[in-house]
Amino acid sequence: METFIHALPKVELHLHIEGSLEPELLFTLAERNQIPLPYADVESLRAAYQFTNLQSFLDIYYQGANVLIREQDFYDLTWAYLQKCHQQNVVHTEIFFDPQTHTDRGIPFADVIGGISRALADGESKLGITSALILSFLRHLSEEAAFATLEQALPYRDLFVGIGLDSSEKGNPPEKFSRVFARVRELGFKVVAHAGEEGPAEYIWTALNDLQVARIDHGVRCVDDPALVEHLRQTRVPLTVCPLSNTKLCVFSEMSEHNIGKLLDQGLCVTVNSDDPAYFGGYMEENYLAIQSALDLTKPQLAQLARNGIEASFMTEQRKQALM
Ligand code: ADE
Ligand code: ZN
Repeated sequence: METFIHALPKVELHLHIEGSLEPELLFTLAERNQIPLPYADVESLRAAYQFTNLQSFLDIYYQGANVLIREQDFYDLTWAYLQKCHQQNVVHTEIFFDPQTHTDRGIPFADVIGGISRALADGESKLGITSALILSFLRHLSEEAAFATLEQALPYRDLFVGIGLDSSEKGNPPEKFSRVFARVRELGFKVVAHAGEEGPAEYIWTALNDLQVARIDHGVRCVDDPALVEHLRQTRVPLTVCPLSNTKLCVFSEMSEHNIGKLLDQGLCVTVNSDDPAYFGGYMEENYLAIQSALDLTKPQLAQLARNGIEASFMTEQRKQALM
């Protein structure tokens, strides 16, 4: 199974670049930038990665991002993730970044997107990994702040293909951002949104209807609404599911309870992704391996999950065909 999973050409569609910051690099950057850390060493930082829900994770994730200061830091972060992709036969990746996490600390937008994009370009030329960048608005902040971030981003519009919505889900429904996403669509960007991770199935409906998303990030709570499951089956609007994230954040009490296998068998376009691999204990292969063993997935099921990732991506039809 390990060999089989390794050999599958994998596409990642749900990865927060800030969530790929491994404790070792976090300590290196803290030292380089003289940022004091409330942890004595890598081991005690890793030991703090015990989460009870999404918010308990986000608090530590935003704290970790404070060590990212210079353009080179964003380059090093992204380059380390791309090397993991290379090791795991991930051939294409669509990456989120959260500009507000950085610009609100006074880091220039240009340095954030510049460092990430420079590494992605090297990923393609040196490792053969293609990619796309998705800017994500923080939903715990205001609509006004999202509009301001969009304005700041427009001079760099050639560097990203889409805009998403992440951070604290409950109490921050997609429709809070209807107007800014109408503008985003007018500008020609792809739209995605986290919905139905911890929040209700209703948020998946409003992401679809109000924001008109091309994909739902997570979406596992769709099972609470049979009409929604049927809609997702018929339309094949993809769900970018993140199994290790879901168990680490207690969305499912254990992996054997995860619904990805059932949703796959019902014909939904579910895909496998790592979300924040440095915090949740694994990249793409670890996610595939975890669901395979817990849910006893077969090789045809795993191959279908990988094909779904290709189908759900923003790659050209020509490239998709070449990978299928
Ligand atoms: N930001 C980083 N990871 C996230 C997740 N799993 N849900 C919402 N926002 C996030
Ligand atoms: Zn996410």
